[in-house]
Amino acid sequence: MDYFNLKGKNVVAVGGAGGIGQAIAQGFVEAGANVIIASRKEESLKRAQEEIKAATGIAPDYLTVDAVNEDSVKALVEASVAKLGKVDVLLCCQGLNKKFPAQDFPMDVYEQVLNVNVLGVMCCCKHFGKHMMENKYGKIVILSSTRGKVATKAPGNAAYAATKGAVDMLVRQLASEYGPYGITVNALGPTVTETPMMTAVIEQRGGDAYRKSLADDLPMRRMAVPEDCVGTALFLAAPASDFVTGNIIYPDGGLTAVR
Ligand SMILES: NC(=O)c1ccc[n+]([C@@H]2O[C@H](COP(=O)([O-])OP(=O)(O)OC[C@H]3O[C@@H](n4cnc5c(N)ncnc54)[C@H](OP(=O)(O)O)[C@@H]3O)[C@@H](O)[C@H]2O)c1
Repeated sequence: MDYFNLKGKNVVAVGGAGGIGQAIAQGFVEAGANVIIASRKEESLKRAQEEIKAATGIAPDYLTVDAVNEDSVKALVEASVAKLGKVDVLLCCQGLNKKFPAQDFPMDVYEQVLNVNVLGVMCCCKHFGKHMMENKYGKIVILSSTRGKVATKAPGNAAYAATKGAVDMLVRQLASEYGPYGITVNALGPTVTETPMMTAVIEQRGGDAYRKSLADDLPMRRMAVPEDCVGTALFLAAPASDFVTGNIIYPDGGLTAVR
């Protein structure tokens, strides 16, 4: 068996123009997969497409989707199948992080975070899962977070942490329901990574001094970068992980080992 061969696999990366999603999408392009990146904003998708082409010589396709809208997700599945024939790998790299102290959390914002991080992920897993069931094969890889497992001393994560805990249980439940159809479902749990999601938070919390404190906290003594997630995502989509399902793997520089 060629344990890490992803050549010719058909991959849809929702959130594939985001900080971590783009790095992962590029990793799949480099591994020889056929990749479609998808999210709401066409200008972000075009930018990511151009940057991936500049880095690899290959431009991934893109499609727009709003993952919290079920009709939009159904249309994404149909359009992806029309382009690729079938989808082997779903990457859910979308996400939203809004921080307020719990006692002041605006409930409309709370609902928005729940919608993007839980409902939107479920909606993608539901409709791509249904398609994969027909093929009796699939790999679903979801971006969770260390925040699904470990809380923060600093206030702010009452929405985000709750959604990532929910994602972790969703992974286990979907692994159970989809396993009989040859579909694995797993997640990655990264730690704080400097992406568009986190730059403002890092600046608000002290910029370089905060970056240094994040690095000092980790056994690996450096901050995470988006590329730290790529190897784990490739593993969870490759034949090497065919008997791995319902798991959360932490490319977190050791954070969960020392907390
Ligand atoms: N950065 C971190 O420190 C960190 C740590 C642990 C886990 N994570 C997780 O890793 C994942 C990626 O985070 P990131 O840092 O790369 O964030 P990011 O740079 O903000 O990217 C998030 C992406 O999600 C897409 N998105 C948001 N709402 C969407 C929707 N309704 N439908 C479709 N796409 C949607 C956005 O694209 P559009 O705006 O074009 O829709 C964007 O490209 C998230 O699940 C995040 O929770 C991040």
